[in-house]
Amino acid sequence: MSKLYERLAAYGNLNVSPFHMPGHKRKSGRFSLGDPFAIDITEIDGFDNLHHACGILKEAMEEAAAVYGAQKSYFLVNGSSCGILAAVSACVPQGGTLLVARNCHKSVYHAIALRGLFPLYLWPDPVPGWGMNGAVKPEEVEEALLANPDVKAVLITSPTYEGICSDLRRICETAHRQRVPVIVDAAPGAHFSFWEICEAAVSCGADLVIESLHKTLPSLTQTAILHKNSSFVEEKLLEWYLQVYQTSSPSYVLMASVDSCISYMAGKQGKGDMEVYVSELGRLRQRISGLSHIRLLSGEETGGIFYDDSRLVVRAEGWSGRQLYDSLRLRYGIQPEMCTENYVILMTSVADGPEDFLRLSDALAELDRKWKEKDRGPAEEADGPAGFLKPQTVLRPGEAMEKKMLSCSLEVCEGRVSGEFAYVYPPGIPVLVPGERITAEVLKILKGYEEGGFEVLGPENFAGGEMLVIEEEESELGKNFLYNGKERFR
Ligand SMILES: Cc1ncc(COP(=O)(O)O)c(C=O)c1O
Repeated sequence: MSKLYERLAAYGNLNVSPFHMPGHKRKSGRFSLGDPFAIDITEIDGFDNLHHACGILKEAMEEAAAVYGAQKSYFLVNGSSCGILAAVSACVPQGGTLLVARNCHKSVYHAIALRGLFPLYLWPDPVPGWGMNGAVKPEEVEEALLANPDVKAVLITSPTYEGICSDLRRICETAHRQRVPVIVDAAPGAHFSFWEICEAAVSCGADLVIESLHKTLPSLTQTAILHKNSSFVEEKLLEWYLQVYQTSSPSYVLMASVDSCISYMAGKQGKGDMEVYVSELGRLRQRISGLSHIRLLSGEETGGIFYDDSRLVVRAEGWSGRQLYDSLRLRYGIQPEMCTENYVILMTSVADGPEDFLRLSDALAELDRKWKEKDRGPAEEADGPAGFLKPQTVLRPGEAMEKKMLSCSLEVCEGRVSGEFAYVYPPGIPVLVPGERITAEVLKILKGYEEGGFEVLGPENFAGGEMLVIEEEESELGKNFLYNGKERFR
């Protein structure tokens, strides 16, 4: 057996509670599809072709569309990332303009770079005291659309990684008045259609919605779905891009997992299990909310229209996110999804049992009891992530990436134009995008990440104190060089 397999098998035998993706929580008995080798086939007779579906896959996708209330749904086997690439490519022509929330996942930026698009940013408001992005305001979407009639699509992430939901209904109404389609990256919200407290993006009128089933539902990693619900998006073009960005050998194991997951969630068993999960989750949230020094993010604080209660975003007074994350992991065998400098994200799903919730609430209650006055530290509001810095966009990301670059020491790259992305994963939201000006604030945030034990990804040699910048000086780049907001096409 391989080392990787052995490591995975050994990990599976440890008594660790998974408060992270995938949503099946490794409950193989409950969601098993049996031996994966026994059902791993290719496009043999009787089994259809994902990219030209006309048999059993077409039927399965039609059933999924009926469950979600979409015109058409497409199974994705390369995660939400491939759905996002296809959605953006189908809506915005090469070199066109995308109105996009700045707190988007890197796959959105990849689409922008690959298609040579002009990103026009919407800046979500920060959530006070938490250092995270909040919701996108419909009024800002309207203002941006009226000022920029060349925008070809709007792209919003809702829910966010932290569970914050924008008012998609109003955003879609606004965009549709201008005949502009809305793409919703709902990767962390695949459970919304099976849970009454949050309205799913498809029901809000979004034109294209991408959801990672693997993140919050009992489905295998890499499985996702794209829903089309629009007359603004050309179906043939979307389908063409889907087969461009997905493998030509889609796994039937993964597709069977998508199909089984949707049948389970829409069926009697899933509905019953959801009821139990939601009521257990309510009790868990109540217990954590009653703690004195550990704080649970509540929907009211976020400024969003809904809040995804399945996400537990917690912080301990005076502690860094890393301290709380490590305590949960090392002292209590609880593996969270991620941490930032300030908080920890724990993901729950229908696959969690009461024993998992009890273990978590007992651990948090004990940490709360053991909290000491000296832990409080200096009274300091959480810093916002770099998303709030609004770096100036100087060149389109795709254009910047093709320019000649030079390696520049971090000490002297301030003021230069970046040739690289810089982000921490998760969440994979870029702090800096190619073509943006490197400012002292951006460098401070990136260095702070590194000091806090987070690896800065994107730059070839950030750890070695270097970044790639565009070689040409600003004055040499000519009049097309500068663009920012309304001035961008000068
Ligand atoms: C908001 C968001 N969008 C898209 C993605 C990409 O999803 P996938 O990993 O299914 O490709 C992620 C992954 O973390 C995400 O958080």
